[in-house]
Amino acid sequence: MKDASPQTIYLSDYTPPAYLVESVYLTFRLSPKNTRVISKIRFTPNPASQSRNFFLHGENLRLISARVDGQAVTPDVTDTGLSCAVPDAPFTWECEVEIAPEDNTALEGLYMSNGMYCTQCEAEGFRKITYYPDRPDVMGVFTVRIEGEEPILLSNGNLVTKGNGFAEWHDPWPKPAYLFALVAGDLVNHPDRFTTRSGRDVELNIWVRPGDEEKCAFGMEALKKSMAWDEETYGREYDLDVFNIVAVDDFNMGAMENKGLNIFNSSCVLASPETSTDANFERVEAIIAHEYFHNWTGNRITCRDWFQLCLKEGLTVFRDAEFTADMRSAPVKRISDVLALRARQFREDNGPLAHPVRPESFVEINNFYTATVYEKGAEVIGMLKRLVGDAAYSEALDLYFDRHDGQACTIEDWLKVFEDATGRDLSQFKGWYSQAGTPRLRVTDDFKDGTYTLNFEQETPPTPGQDDKAPQVLPIAVGLLGPNGDEVVETTVLEMTAAKQSFAFEGLSARPTPSILREFSAPVILERETDNAERAFLLAHDTDPFNKWEAGRALAREGLIDMITEGAAPDGAYLEAALTMARDDTLDPAFRALALGLPSQDELAQTLHERGHTPDPQAVWEALETLRHARAEHFQDLAPRLYAQYQVTAPYAPDAEQSGARALANSALGMITRLDGGSQAQRQYGSADNMTQQLAAFSNLLQSGKGQEATSRFYDQWQNDRLVIDKWFMLQIVHAAPDQAAATAEALTKHPDFTIRNPNRFRATLGALAMNPAGFHNASGEGYRVLADWLIALDPLNPQTTARMCSAFETWKRYDSTRQDLITKQLDRILAAPGLSPDTTEMVSRIRSA
Ligand code: TRP
Ligand code: ZN
Repeated sequence: MKDASPQTIYLSDYTPPAYLVESVYLTFRLSPKNTRVISKIRFTPNPASQSRNFFLHGENLRLISARVDGQAVTPDVTDTGLSCAVPDAPFTWECEVEIAPEDNTALEGLYMSNGMYCTQCEAEGFRKITYYPDRPDVMGVFTVRIEGEEPILLSNGNLVTKGNGFAEWHDPWPKPAYLFALVAGDLVNHPDRFTTRSGRDVELNIWVRPGDEEKCAFGMEALKKSMAWDEETYGREYDLDVFNIVAVDDFNMGAMENKGLNIFNSSCVLASPETSTDANFERVEAIIAHEYFHNWTGNRITCRDWFQLCLKEGLTVFRDAEFTADMRSAPVKRISDVLALRARQFREDNGPLAHPVRPESFVEINNFYTATVYEKGAEVIGMLKRLVGDAAYSEALDLYFDRHDGQACTIEDWLKVFEDATGRDLSQFKGWYSQAGTPRLRVTDDFKDGTYTLNFEQETPPTPGQDDKAPQVLPIAVGLLGPNGDEVVETTVLEMTAAKQSFAFEGLSARPTPSILREFSAPVILERETDNAERAFLLAHDTDPFNKWEAGRALAREGLIDMITEGAAPDGAYLEAALTMARDDTLDPAFRALALGLPSQDELAQTLHERGHTPDPQAVWEALETLRHARAEHFQDLAPRLYAQYQVTAPYAPDAEQSGARALANSALGMITRLDGGSQAQRQYGSADNMTQQLAAFSNLLQSGKGQEATSRFYDQWQNDRLVIDKWFMLQIVHAAPDQAAATAEALTKHPDFTIRNPNRFRATLGALAMNPAGFHNASGEGYRVLADWLIALDPLNPQTTARMCSAFETWKRYDSTRQDLITKQLDRILAAPGLSPDTTEMVSRIRSA
């Protein structure tokens, strides 16, 4: 067990390290059950610290020997680390430990995946490899010697030498231990090269298990595009002779930016038309870019402590979103990002797990790799850019790289470069980093004597530990449309700083229709009394693609809310507006496909809750089914036409244009399937030559209850492709009828291909259950019970993934008292599990204490 009584760590307790690391020399003698790690580290007293306490983190290590300046010492060892008497002067620490990578099921530190050695050190995994000051403000230059029989031996930086049974790597750039990586195994590579703009010739490799080499080409192209983009857009060049990416099957998250040796969940790098959907391709491209961009925002400039996590994550998410917008369609990327933000971050911000973008305390840092830190962290940078403008943003970033290269920084450092570059005072803006919760922005308007006034009022509801909220700085992008639909005032950014504020537009000849919060210029919930006529008008005329989409979305949502709360019939205004939009061939097909998407069950439940209703998950699901059916009928003529018009005949390419066409054709297929009992979907299933088409057909068949035959055909075809089989597990559960979902998930846990050891498969099964809200929240309580059973089973093996998946329960307060009782019973059962990890204990108690 990690520790008996987990400690809460506070940002305000930060103190600089007592000793700094100059250089690190590590030797690994690899063996599954007893790997030896020999370290030789040069330490110097830190002039910035008063303390001379020498403490090294270490967990689950068997200490063999330790020496200080060549003299054997006997350190004071606990289960979290060791301390030792050392000189108040530079000295050399030497130490040998033994670890068992094969027994490491937590996938943190050095572990094994399919016979291959690999590491995951962020955030605090290096302490499971050797004794070390495992904190990001201690940066050292690493040299690593790997001894093992594996043909491929990799670590950070450049290769120094390699021979029979060993390889030596040197990374010239000082780095914190969380960026350390080692990989050893029987791997094959997909090689390429890139020449940086200053002429450095860089060797690129994607390393995979034999058999996967055909799935690397797309990732490699994405890497080269990312390298070129960062040079052009941010002036950032790569800084080593080699860049290695390795695909690993057993991985807790998406990917990791280790210096010069990125390690990826194989699902986030491998791609081929037959096995990956358009969405998978886009995700691979974005994650490759994200990890590559960390080389500057994260690695060259890192975080002082883990409270500053958003310094690297918010900025890197923002950068990868800019990249995707440039490579593909900017409006489509923005709409998808806002959908994800609302689904995950608003949900988090409005529940018991709400925390600021820069949290002030934590028990387990792994529990703070959240939508708030990542996605809201990126939104905050987007607001900053909007407030200062593009030119000042780029000046501030140049200053940031110039001033802080090689340092471990804070949010204060980050804001200071913006203040220095622009002369602005950002003290109020800093509230975005310290205040949790999603602001509600209420708007009213009036029109008199040619002057149109928008009156705004902002309020942030209380969140755990923060009862009183201050007004935030809100950039509100607004445009005005005249009665004939023409834009009479182009987008301007209003800067709201007070709780209440009005903005006037003069010289208008008629009352305009406002388009507020264009491009979703601030992460707030906009509240405005309006009607369907105005929403339909904006859907037809708004020049801002985001708000055009938002208007259609609001129309659908309000109709659904009326169906749920008042038993209303499907809204004719919505159906008609959707039809007009869908047949407008001047609109990007990808945009139309997004605009035909309906609010999710979870989004509707959240909206109902915000408006004082208790959502009934079954009623929400039924309303969506009814509306989908009515819409299929309303689109009876158009859907087959769209379906035929947007079939792609060219050879498959995962680009924005083809994916958009397929997305629109497949939303038409969804409508067709509701009326034809699945025959079109059958045909598409039979003729599909790529996974996007095959999976769309399969999903439609499952949803229409006609999926039995396809389920066994799909399995027979793909049983040897683990990533495709993950989809097979997931779709059966996601598309199960509400009263069948828990039983389907539980049955699949008994399938021979289910394994609790692989996080992707576990998420494809138990994570999928939570992605079927009506099924998960089914009145029987079986959904809660099945998930709790498996979280209890996973926790002793892999606390990190267990703890993350507890967030399925974070919305429990929204529901009726019967469901609340069923959920709290399961939460309490998890908490009572003997030896429950600190990770899961922290998550469940935070959720429970709501
Ligand atoms: N830093 C990684 C990223 O955002 C994510 C990460 C953090 C991670 N902790 C991890 C990945 C643990 C895998 C396992 O790119
Ligand atoms: Zn990241």
